[in-house]
Amino acid sequence: MQTFHHINSLRAVLTKERAAGKRIGFVPTMGNLHGAHLELVKLARSTNDIVVCSIFVNGLQFGLNEDWDKYPRTLLEDSQKLENVGCDYLFNPDDNEMYPNGLDTQSRVICPTMTDVLCGASRPGHFEGVTTVVTKLFNIVQPDEAVFGIKDYQQLAVIRRMVEDLCMGIEITAAPIHREADGLAMSSRNGFITSEERPRVSQLNQSLNWVKEQLEAGRRDFATLSGDASRQIENSGFKLDYLSICNSKTLAPAAHDDKAITILGAMFTAGARLIDNVSTELE
Ligand code: PAJ
Repeated sequence: MQTFHHINSLRAVLTKERAAGKRIGFVPTMGNLHGAHLELVKLARSTNDIVVCSIFVNGLQFGLNEDWDKYPRTLLEDSQKLENVGCDYLFNPDDNEMYPNGLDTQSRVICPTMTDVLCGASRPGHFEGVTTVVTKLFNIVQPDEAVFGIKDYQQLAVIRRMVEDLCMGIEITAAPIHREADGLAMSSRNGFITSEERPRVSQLNQSLNWVKEQLEAGRRDFATLSGDASRQIENSGFKLDYLSICNSKTLAPAAHDDKAITILGAMFTAGARLIDNVSTELE
């Protein structure tokens, strides 16, 4: 695997690959790679000739009081893991390479409405930071396909919409959620969970699944269901951010006759904010 810190040198090598007719798959990440990230790389590996992965802790998508400065940076270990799963090129720019004119005057990509709800409501500006950096990364790598995890469901939905709206011509592939044995979705932020609360954090996943089962059993009293599930999470000792039953495509609150439904939730532990979601296709 070759590592690039500069846009121009990565572009030069990818231009040659493209000219040789190679199909390019891309996996953007913020590093501190775990099993789920590696599954994304393997998925890209299986359908492309060349796999590019990026590691960039994007300041533009973190709020002022969020964890940008303590976000784990583990480049050496990450490089080894990527090499082991057959990644060809790692792009690891620094802040100055990605934002040479600073963050304040950086041109932005805005995907309205969908980004104001759920995680967007509690993290203002977050998705603007994501869509902007992903657009820049897409422009740098110019992949045929990019792989994103369903774990960040809203991110995936927003990126799909952005690619459609802005005619980016990149195939977006969704990778299934990779979980620990008790259902906790793998995340770089799981390292911030204390050992005391670790046995209880899978409550988020359990409550989302409980709602899914109730919906599949025919219930459509969305407000009562989400209220009961929220209380389950709060009773296990966590502060709830949101728990919403949504239309899988638009992320608007589910309508009574919607068939594709996604239940999304976020909660705060002592040291981390955790998110999860489950989807169902109703009869
Ligand atoms: P990051 O949190 O590093 O995640 C990189 C990719 O891994 C995302 O597509 C995310 O959905 C996926 N992922 C993480 N945990 C997962 C899990 N347990 N199961 C399945 N997929 C999982 O998401 C970002 O970085 C950034 O916002 C980024 C898109 C790189 C833009 O900065």
